[in-house]
Amino acid sequence: MWIKALENSPQEGTMLEFNAAGKQLFVTLNNGKLYCGENHCPHEGVKLTLGCFKGNRIKCSLHGFSFDLATGSSSEDGVDDLKTYPVKQQNGQIYINL
Ligand code: FES
Repeated sequence: MWIKALENSPQEGTMLEFNAAGKQLFVTLNNGKLYCGENHCPHEGVKLTLGCFKGNRIKCSLHGFSFDLATGSSSEDGVDDLKTYPVKQQNGQIYINL
């Protein structure tokens, strides 16, 4: 189900965090594409918004493992993938599909 998450898109290379449906999430604009994921590292739960981008991946600030923004694929064997969600911009507002 698509829900409105944010009134505006994040700026390129930045992340906006918010809560929706009981989940802590982030939306980012990376190389012109929007992505949405859960805002806690699947490894030990640190907020991923404290991390940085490495190409099309978000890199956790604590141990440096990274996750593909589109698929959530983990860089580390034995660490779960990041849960990601479809995101779109419509009339300037950001919607996610939970
Ligand atoms: S808590 Fe994120 S890599 Fe360990």
